Amino acid sequence: MRHLLSAADLDRDAAVGLLDTAERMAATQEREMKKLPTLRGRTVVNLFFEDSTRTRISFETAAKRLSADVINFAARGSSLSKGESLKDTALTLQAMGADAVVIRHQASGAPYRLAHAGWLASAVVNAGDGTHQHPTQALLDAFTLRRHLVAAGDAGLGRDLAGLHVAIVGDVLHSRVARSNVDLLHTLGARVTLVAPPTLLPVGVEAWACATSYHLDEVIAEGRPDAIMMLRVQRERMGAGVPANGAPVATGFFPSPLEYTRAYGLDARRLAMLPEHAIVMHPGPMNRGLEISADAADSPRAVIVEQVANGVAIRMAVLYRLLAGEREAF
Ligand code: CP
Repeated sequence: MRHLLSAADLDRDAAVGLLDTAERMAATQEREMKKLPTLRGRTVVNLFFEDSTRTRISFETAAKRLSADVINFAARGSSLSKGESLKDTALTLQAMGADAVVIRHQASGAPYRLAHAGWLASAVVNAGDGTHQHPTQALLDAFTLRRHLVAAGDAGLGRDLAGLHVAIVGDVLHSRVARSNVDLLHTLGARVTLVAPPTLLPVGVEAWACATSYHLDEVIAEGRPDAIMMLRVQRERMGAGVPANGAPVATGFFPSPLEYTRAYGLDARRLAMLPEHAIVMHPGPMNRGLEISADAADSPRAVIVEQVANGVAIRMAVLYRLLAGEREAF
């Protein structure tokens, strides 16, 4: 593996291999001494052009746990505000000796450009590009699903997600998480149903490797999903802005926040309709009261905080695979 740009680039063996490596990384994090010497002398640059809490912090934690040097580069406060291009930024990182560049960018395709333009010798990891891909999110989601719903024997090592049904609900149109999850879950043998209003499903979704529905209650009652993944309503991509108090706002994509919540929100009533073993997921950050109620977000079936913790093990596995390859044992 040279770069990680899209979940679609991973075949079953590569994906299961990363999940297995993450399982072993997670085991090392149970120890008193969490730090491994594996990437000593390597430099990982976190290049974030868009805001992030979970992804940026967990890449930084993962790199540090592997003993890499970490440079955090945020667009705000950098020379980008003076008009510096992606190319010149990349050349600067190259001059600094970056071994891996973890990039989040508002433009779909920016990580691909960085990886293939010939500006950098480093490995490139896509930490979320526009509405396109967020492969490490899909990997940590698959890891969480496997731990809860598949794990048997040695934490499910070597196993995929065959036979599971995952419902992904909400703002699919603007969601790189949905796209990455459809790709990876399909590769791992799971069945996916996307549930959204017609205005929040992308053109061409019929060609994706999943089913679609406009009716959440029907999917829960008849589809009996093993996991329900609620998506954030991405108000910042709807031209609606995000008010300082975070309150739900009307957008052109649904009649009102209240109607959206009634039709597509996960609340206590829908939580009670889910199969007993089903888990509740959300990539975060959550709009509590819009796509997910506090009852659902804080219920014992919610694995949302666990998803964040699993992100560190997954990102350790990805950095390990990219920078240490198969040669070094950890
Ligand atoms: N899930 C996710 O990408 O969260 P952040 O935007 O906080 O990184």
